[in-house]
Amino acid sequence: MLDLFPDSAAIDGSRLSLGGLDAEALADKHGTPLVVLCEDTVRATARALREAVGDGRVFFGTKALPNVALLRLLREEGIGADVASAGELAFARAAGLEGADLVVHGNNKDAALLAGAAAVGAPVVLDAPDEAQLAADAGVGQVLVRVTLGVDADTHEAIRTGHHGSKFGLPPDQARAIVAEALDLGLEAMGVHVHVGSQLEDFDAQAETIVRLASFVAGCRDELGWVAQVADLGGGFGIRHHPADRAPDAAELAHAAARTARLGFVEEGLPQPEIWLEPGRSVVGRAGVTLYRVGSVKRLPGRTWVAVDGGMSDNPRPQLYGARYTALSAARASEAVDEVVSVAGMHCESGDVLIDDVALPSPRRGDLLAVPATGAYTMAMASNYNGVPRPAMVLVRDGDVRVIRARETVEDLLRQER
Ligand code: LLP
Repeated sequence: MLDLFPDSAAIDGSRLSLGGLDAEALADKHGTPLVVLCEDTVRATARALREAVGDGRVFFGTKALPNVALLRLLREEGIGADVASAGELAFARAAGLEGADLVVHGNNKDAALLAGAAAVGAPVVLDAPDEAQLAADAGVGQVLVRVTLGVDADTHEAIRTGHHGSKFGLPPDQARAIVAEALDLGLEAMGVHVHVGSQLEDFDAQAETIVRLASFVAGCRDELGWVAQVADLGGGFGIRHHPADRAPDAAELAHAAARTARLGFVEEGLPQPEIWLEPGRSVVGRAGVTLYRVGSVKRLPGRTWVAVDGGMSDNPRPQLYGARYTALSAARASEAVDEVVSVAGMHCESGDVLIDDVALPSPRRGDLLAVPATGAYTMAMASNYNGVPRPAMVLVRDGDVRVIRARETVEDLLRQER
């Protein structure tokens, strides 16, 4: 099971350590729930993804985990940011990213986002029929066009984006029209963008999309005399959240995506594009572990409930996508797992179940549970349901710990009340 955890995870005696620090000691000092992010894992994954695209570019899908310290760290690794709101843009700017280190997304960009993109000189990915005009009016210089090529990815319906009828992107004829309009308006049309879905567990949908993308670009050349210099292939690489999950290595997928695009462009007689990728989950997912404290334990006929001090407010993915997680008893990691239990959250609804079944050493109040593969789309989607403040996040490395997101307090929540 340790393979679901970050590179630095180890079990010393019976205790889990992360980044050279005892998990129980981290929880004692920083409270729970606590998101622990392993710096070495983030850096190693970022490097592997960057190497996979050669002279292309990698932009972190900020939505997976918007955090200034993280964006700064990724910047040191040569990774920019894909931002999809004025808020995410502000996070990226606070991390020192601007211009060519950014790519701006959104199926309904507001004036603040377009003006912000123009102010920092960031390329904008056009995603609506009137957006070339809106971008030009806002003073944006460079644009890409997001095209939807009718490929159904094999992933949860809520995170499938490349199919006909998707709310994202434009079908080929409308995308071609917006390229023409962008050129007329004097915008620098740099290239094309596709994103077929998230948590992809194989390469099939991406491969098919990229082949269709090359043919779309060839069509633009034939009809408009315009050739895309950039092929932005989006993100989507899946990770393993549970021992039964499968997912190829993200860097291998990234390499395959870049290679398929290069070959596709050659086959269409097009010049080689610059490859861009926007991985989110695969950069931070496995680097993050959430620590929870066990409270009540109820042994009922047929089911044992182990309740923790968080739940759907810090990780709504089980409810939203039927996501499966697992857990390790962090201070009893070498004890025999002798009971199969359900891990419940502390929220006021029956659906607030973090893990349906997991085998643990007979749980008791005060145990610490470590849930791996929770770096992506957990903190990012956290809420204040039941008036619960959002968790803290720490970055760990070689025995050092740094708080990179302070724990929210009830006072923070009350401050917004009138
Ligand atoms: N680029 C674009 C345009 C995107 O829409 C996304 C994700 C990404 C890149 C990054 O995709 P990734 O590499 O992380 O799969 N909340 C959902 C995931 C939503 C993904 C949204 N777009 C979840 O928890 O599974």
